[in-house]
Amino acid sequence: MKLGWIWLTVMLALGGSVTAHAATDSREVVDQARGKPVIRGGIVYKHYCTLCHGERGDGMARATKLYGAVNLRITNQPRDYYEKVVREGGVAVDRSPFMPPWDGELSEEQIGDVVAYLDAVTNPIRRGEVVFKSNCVLCHGVKADGKGRASVLYDPPPANLTRSDKNDQYKKMIVTYGGEAMGRSPVMPIWGEQLSEQEIDDVVAYLRTILVVPPSQ
Ligand code: HEC
Ligand code: HEC
Repeated sequence: MKLGWIWLTVMLALGGSVTAHAATDSREVVDQARGKPVIRGGIVYKHYCTLCHGERGDGMARATKLYGAVNLRITNQPRDYYEKVVREGGVAVDRSPFMPPWDGELSEEQIGDVVAYLDAVTNPIRRGEVVFKSNCVLCHGVKADGKGRASVLYDPPPANLTRSDKNDQYKKMIVTYGGEAMGRSPVMPIWGEQLSEQEIDDVVAYLRTILVVPPSQ
């Protein structure tokens, strides 16, 4: 699991340095992100949390060894759980007292922002959305309707992914091995070398959430 890469991509995609090839599409991504709590939350996280939880929230940090057996990895949890731990500290959720309460130390806005950030980076669907917006919009379009900027160049055109009748397994295969290996257009690239398996699973999970017609599997 290359969670580190995902962490970085989230920061890049939401932080506004997506300068990929699709000028317009990436600007839309940046516009959507502007003023969003996730970016500010990433900054709060970097300042106050990395010492114990690590840059990537995986618990690989400088202070880790001080806490012996305690696992400092931040797992995928509901937002209200994050909010409680961050506000009231580890004891509030029967976890280690070494997780300090941040109420008072951080402002209301900072608490909200850092919770939004944790939600974005630990939630597979949110991560998958970032993978999609960083790699697929040029052809498939921001709305995944197959109307990306480059779509006019290709025949057959990039698929409208909001109306795909393929199941998750098929999608994972075509994303990993490319169109040609699946008897489809070679224009659909092979992503297996650029993206980790985790990222591919995340993007497939995201695609499931944007279907306008439920899959017939
Ligand atoms: C001094 C070290 C330290 C700092 C700094 C720290 N934490 Fe923690 N954190 C911990 C410990 C220890 C735990 C509990 C681990 C356990 O009991 O398994 C924890 C647990 C958590 C959990 C629960 C994780 C889970 O998956 O259940 C969250 C969320 C969390 N911290 C968020 C934050 C945030 C956000 C910040 C920065 C504002 C932060 N922490 C700063 C030490 C720290
Ligand atoms: C260079 C353009 C291009 C890029 C970039 C691209 N695709 Fe495609 N994709 C295509 C084309 C063209 C097809 C249709 C192939 C065909 O019909 O033969 C396709 C088909 C697909 C399909 C099959 C859908 C179905 O219902 O059959 C999936 C799933 C898919 N792409 C996902 C992705 C994902 C996820 C990404 C980003 C990681 C991506 N694509 C990036 C061009 C692209």
